[in-house]
Amino acid sequence: MWRVDPSGPGMTEEEFRLLRDLVHAHCGLWFRDDSRYLLERRLGPRVQALGLKDFSAYHRHLRFDPGREAELDEATDVLTTNETYFYREPNQLRTFSRDILPALACARARERRLRILSAGCATGEEVYTVAMLVREAGLFDGWDVDIVGCDISRRCVAHARAGAYGEHAFRNPEVEPLRRWFQLRGGKWVVDDAVRRSVRFHRENLLDPGALATVPGVDVVFCRNVMIYFDLAARRRVLRRFHERLRPGGWLLLGHSESLLNVTADFEIVHLESDLVYRRPATLPAGEGT
Ligand SMILES: C[S@@+](CC[C@H](N)C(=O)[O-])C[C@H]1O[C@@H](n2cnc3c(N)ncnc32)[C@H](O)[C@@H]1O
Repeated sequence: MWRVDPSGPGMTEEEFRLLRDLVHAHCGLWFRDDSRYLLERRLGPRVQALGLKDFSAYHRHLRFDPGREAELDEATDVLTTNETYFYREPNQLRTFSRDILPALACARARERRLRILSAGCATGEEVYTVAMLVREAGLFDGWDVDIVGCDISRRCVAHARAGAYGEHAFRNPEVEPLRRWFQLRGGKWVVDDAVRRSVRFHRENLLDPGALATVPGVDVVFCRNVMIYFDLAARRRVLRRFHERLRPGGWLLLGHSESLLNVTADFEIVHLESDLVYRRPATLPAGEGT
C-alpha cells in the first residue's frame, strides 16, 4: 500500500470510510472520497503516538477505549482548519459597524443588553475584532454586553483566552486602526486587558445536542468559514440551533462564500449597503405560532 509517511501506517479504503464517518458523526466535518491521504497524513501521528498497529486499531480506540473522549479531542484538533486573522472579510465588518450595531442600539435601547456569539472562532481573532468594533461604535457604554467565542478545538480556545498574537494575525492591512487595542509584549501583540475581560471563550461542539445552551437570546451570530467543512445535514442541524438561540430579528453573519440557498428557509436575506446578511425574521410567518 502507498503511504504518505513510509514509516507510518497506511490507511485502507475501509479504514478511511470508518474514520471519516466517525469524525462526521462527532463534529459534522465531512471528508470527500478523495481525502484518504489527508486523513492518513493528519491522523498517522496519532496512531504512532498511541503505539497502535494500524488505523483499524485507531478506529477501535476512538470507539471503545476508556480514553476515547480525549482522543476524539486530539483527532478533532488535527482535522479542523483553524485559519483566521483580525478584521477578516472587511465588507461585512463595515456592515456590522455601520448598519447592524446602530440598529441594535435602537432596538435594545430599553433593556441595554447586547449578546454576540462567534461560533467556530478558532484562535479568537474574530471575537476580539468584534469586541473592538463594539467599543469603537461608542453606542453601548454602560450596557450589559456579552461577547462569546466558542470552538471545538481545545488548543484554539486556550490560544484565544491567552489573547497574544504574532504579526501574521494582522495580515489584513485594514486592521491597522485597531492596533491601538494591543500592546507589544515579548514579541507578541497582546489584546488590551479591558477588551480581554469583555469577552469569554468556551469549548463547544456545535453538533452536540445541548450546544450553546448557555448563550440564549443572541442578537448576532457570526459563523464564518465553519460550515463550509460540514455536509448538508450537519449545516441544517447547526442552523436550526442558531435559529433557536437568536432573538427574533437577530442577525446571522456567514462567510462571503456561504449561502443558505437550498439549505434552509428559516432566515431572511437582508441587503445592506456593503453586504448581504441573514436575519431571523422578526415575526412568525402567517399561520405559525397561532
Ligand atoms: C476556518 S476557522 C474559522 C474561524 C473564523 N470564524 C474566521 O472566519 O476567521 C473554522 C473553525 O471552526 C471550528 N469548528 C469546526 N467544527 C466545529 C464544531 N463542530 N463545533 C465548533 N467549532 C467547530 C474549527 O475548530 C475551526 O477553528
